[in-house]
Amino acid sequence: MAVPVRVLGIGAYVPERTLTNHDLEKMVDTTDEWIVSRTGIKERHVAADGEATSDLAYRAACQVMERTGVSADQIDFIVVATVTADMQFPSVACLLQDRLGAHRAGAVDVAAGCTGFLYAFHLARSLVASGVQKRVLVVAAECLSRMLDWTDRSTCVLLGDGAGAMILEAAPDGVEGVLSSHLGSDGGLWDLLYFPGGGSRNPTSHQTVDQGLHFFKMNGQATFKQACGVMERACQQALEEAGVSLDQIDLVVPHQANLRILNQLSERMGIPAGKMAVTIDRYGNTSAASVPMALNDYYQEGHLKPGDLVLIVSFGAGLTWGAAVFRWS
Ligand code: UT7
Repeated sequence: MAVPVRVLGIGAYVPERTLTNHDLEKMVDTTDEWIVSRTGIKERHVAADGEATSDLAYRAACQVMERTGVSADQIDFIVVATVTADMQFPSVACLLQDRLGAHRAGAVDVAAGCTGFLYAFHLARSLVASGVQKRVLVVAAECLSRMLDWTDRSTCVLLGDGAGAMILEAAPDGVEGVLSSHLGSDGGLWDLLYFPGGGSRNPTSHQTVDQGLHFFKMNGQATFKQACGVMERACQQALEEAGVSLDQIDLVVPHQANLRILNQLSERMGIPAGKMAVTIDRYGNTSAASVPMALNDYYQEGHLKPGDLVLIVSFGAGLTWGAAVFRWS
């Protein structure tokens, strides 16, 4: 029989430095009006020189551990979702494990683009539900500013840096707190969003750098067309698996890729404005970190109370998608 799982708490970290649309107007041929009307983004945060993904992950992890009173030696496993690891290997999770002093913990990264947090959440839930681990730290952290071509207006205005962290554990009262988690993928759409250089297909060379293969690539319009459909289907699946209706959900926290996508999703599904978390204006698209960062802001702003039902949903590179329903504790 599955062990009941609960979400113990949330934390996040955003780098101090902000980059506004007006700053970007001085760097590339763009305007605040274009960025706000096409994406909803007003500003994003950018990691300081020398600050890497594991540094952001560490700060987010410290916040959730402090809030929940969980010490490093109480963590059994660490899953980090990222596509911007400090280096090809070892994983960010291992660097984090060492820095936290989580001596008993196994550690691994998962790469599922902007759906990374949902994948990490699903793995953590499964580890706890199976009885294999008691307490899992889930972190999503990204330094997307490091993979952008800052002369390409079609991508550099969209993304931002940040991290979010959550702890899942075996529910001490035996009450199930994670009602569902549903994942999907379609690798046939791999070339909608990708990072071609530096891997075994295109090992780093002068030529790959000259060709700009070390920059993030995206077919924005084709990705946009997929976004709503896959998120809507993922939500419906997660709600069905959880046995709850949308009316019973207190807060929907979707991946923050574009305000127009969020508006379409809320219209198609009939999500009331006040029930959907929107933070894209302040952070841009922070890939895997966007869902836990948004959840953290809504928690800090007092929108969540114990017992509330939360629906999280995302889509991203792969193509991947996922949604989950859990009870705030
Ligand atoms: O989280 C991962 C998943 N990613 C996404 O979900 C992104 C999904 N896609 C999008 O959000 C949108 O497609 C974008 C925001 C990326 C682009 O918006 P769009 O409305 O699809 O614009 P577009 O690419 O069709 O470009 C329209 C025009 C073009 O000019 P012309 O050819 O019409 O003269 C672009 O060159 O806007 C131009 N443009 C810009 N203009 C000012 C593109 N980027 C900019 C810019 N500033 N930053």
